[in-house]
Formats: sequence, structure tokens, C-alpha cells
Amino acid sequence: MLVLGIETSCDETAVGIVEDQFTLRANVIASQVELHAPYGGVVPEVAARAHLELLLPTIDHALVQAGAGLSDIDAIAVTAGPGLVGALLVGVSGAKGLALAQDVPLLGVNHLRAHIEAAQLEYGELTPPLIALVVSGGHTSIVVMDEDGLCRQLGGTIDDAAGEAFDKIARFIGLGYPGGPEIDKLARQGDPTAFAFPRAMMQGDGYDMSLSGLKTAVIRQLRKMEAAGEEPNLADIAASFQDAIVDVQLDKTLRACAAEGLDQVVLAGGVAANSRLRERFAEQTEINGQRLIVPSIPLCTDNGAMVAASGANLLAAGSFVGLDLAVDPNLPLAGAAASFG
Ligand code: KG4
Ligand code: ZN
Repeated sequence: MLVLGIETSCDETAVGIVEDQFTLRANVIASQVELHAPYGGVVPEVAARAHLELLLPTIDHALVQAGAGLSDIDAIAVTAGPGLVGALLVGVSGAKGLALAQDVPLLGVNHLRAHIEAAQLEYGELTPPLIALVVSGGHTSIVVMDEDGLCRQLGGTIDDAAGEAFDKIARFIGLGYPGGPEIDKLARQGDPTAFAFPRAMMQGDGYDMSLSGLKTAVIRQLRKMEAAGEEPNLADIAASFQDAIVDVQLDKTLRACAAEGLDQVVLAGGVAANSRLRERFAEQTEINGQRLIVPSIPLCTDNGAMVAASGANLLAAGSFVGLDLAVDPNLPLAGAAASFG
């Protein structure tokens, strides 16, 4: 069974093709980074227009990569939320047209759940219960995926998402967009102990977190140094900032594992591409004897393969949607498997 997945929730027009739920056949991304870079962030109208232009060529490209024709596709999966409404509408409309024309089932995918399920393309079937840390440009949450496959949110950011914090600090110190990979690169030359930036809400046993105070502390530090005529070492700033974010994610996620009695952790979303986050989780889960599931970098940042994988799971469960599928810009992760179909 071949499932074609379409992802247009933000600034990547992406199409993936997955065979029999677990085998990646194609993963093509038409990035819009250059279009948005001059604005230092994603411009929703620009994203929607670009999706419109890029969607059909990206589908064609994915079919070529998979060595398949449209008539070989058994179902069409598409991200229905969360994301930018105009951007989502382009993908969902395209998917409906394809499903109708090819007379195949349509599958409505939750973007956040798809980030988690991307891992099945490299690790095989996920075996819940497990803890997942979902960290992206718009979302930061710690969830339990229970034995029934449904997700239950334990906590999340109460202000900035982790990726948003990376992007904002990168912009402030004059790095390009998206900022996460730039900070990651710069931080490798810096000392993570150079500045003691705050780790908010580390006390207590809750799983919520706050990242905007950290951002303010970094900006305040830079302004203070500027006023004193000191030249900041930006690599040290980047490394210290990055470690503060990683510390919070690591502490809260592994504490959730202990409290829930679970020993499998999935890292998901664009920020899971961060080299320091990956390294620290690898070290600590090894010490704790936990199983770390972390997809390779192209499957962490937004991609179509994860949508195809998640769609293939819905297909296997018989969870189809009709041509009246609506987009939901605020679609929650909790209960996602049951939210469509
Ligand atoms: O999951 P994603 O591709 O899109 C959303 O669903 O939001 O995540 C994008 C976010 C951006 O904020 C980007 O800066 C961040 O992931 N990101 C990173 C890295 N690569 C991407 N953050 C830190 N380190 C990275 N290496
Ligand atoms: Zn994403």
C-alpha cells in the first residue's frame, strides 16, 4: 500500500510517499526559506501563495523519487492542522482534488502527531506507552502516548515555543532565518557555561515551562555589555542560551518518564534536530537505561514523509475522512488519533 502525504502547514511545501506504513519511498521538500528570510520570519500570505505554486511540482517530484505513478497511490494523507490557516488550506484542497480524481481515501493528519510518528520510518512500529517531547517552531510539549496510542499532554510552554526562542535570539544577534540551525552551529564554538541564563520553572513537579524570560535575559545581557562597551562573544551567548533550553527540556522530559514509570522517549519536531539536545538526551538516557527514539534530522524538521507515515497508520485503522475535511489551525495533539475519521 502506498500513501502519499502532503505537508503545507507552515513554510515548507513537502510531499512524502510511504509503503506499507514503515518504508520510506520518497521525501521531497520545496523550501520557502529564501522567500521568508528577508522578513526574518514566515509571512502567512507569502507561504500560502508559494504552496500553491510548489505543490503540484513537489508531488510530481516525489512520485519520480518513489518510481511510482499517481495511479499506484492507494491513499492521500494531508496535514489538517495545526498551522497557518491559508497554508493548510492549499494542502488540504490539493489533497481533496487528488483523492477525488483518483478515487482513493483521504486521510486527515495532525501535524504534531506526525512529527512523533516520523520515527516509525527508522525505528519500526512505535510501542507505546512512551513519552514524547514535541519541540518545534510553534509547539513545545511533553506528552504521554498511552498504550491505546492516544496522546495525553503533561505540560508545555506557557509562552514561547522552543523553536520560536531560537529564532528570536538568532534574529537579535544578527543570524539568519531560521535561527535554530544557525545558533546550533555557532554554539559549537562557544562555552555553554560562559553565562548563567535562567532555567525557569525547574522547581516543582509540573511539566509546564517558560522560555520568554530566558530570551529577555539574553537580550538584557547583550544590552548591558553594549552599554559597558564590551564586545560580546556571540558563540558563548549562543552556547549558554542553547544549554539553558536543552536543560529545561531534558529535566522535564526525563522527570516525566520517571513519574509515569516509562522508559522510552521520542524526540520530535524541528528543534529535535538540535545537536546539543540530541547529544544530552543520548548521554542521559544511556545512563538511565532508557530507550531514546530520535529520527534523523530530515525527519525531525517539517517533511511530507511524516504525514504519509501518520496517514498510513490512519489508513490501517480505517480512519478515513470525507471531502468535507476542514482545516484546524489550533488542532491539539491530545487525542489526535481519534480526532479524524
Ligand atoms: O517542526 P518544524 O520544522 O516546523 C514547525 O512545525 O514549527 O520546526 C521549525 C523550528 C524552527 O524554529 C527552527 O529554528 C527549529 O525548528 N530548528 C532548530 C534546529 N533546526 C531547526 N532549532 C535548534 N537547533 C536546530 N538544529
Ligand atoms: Zn513541524
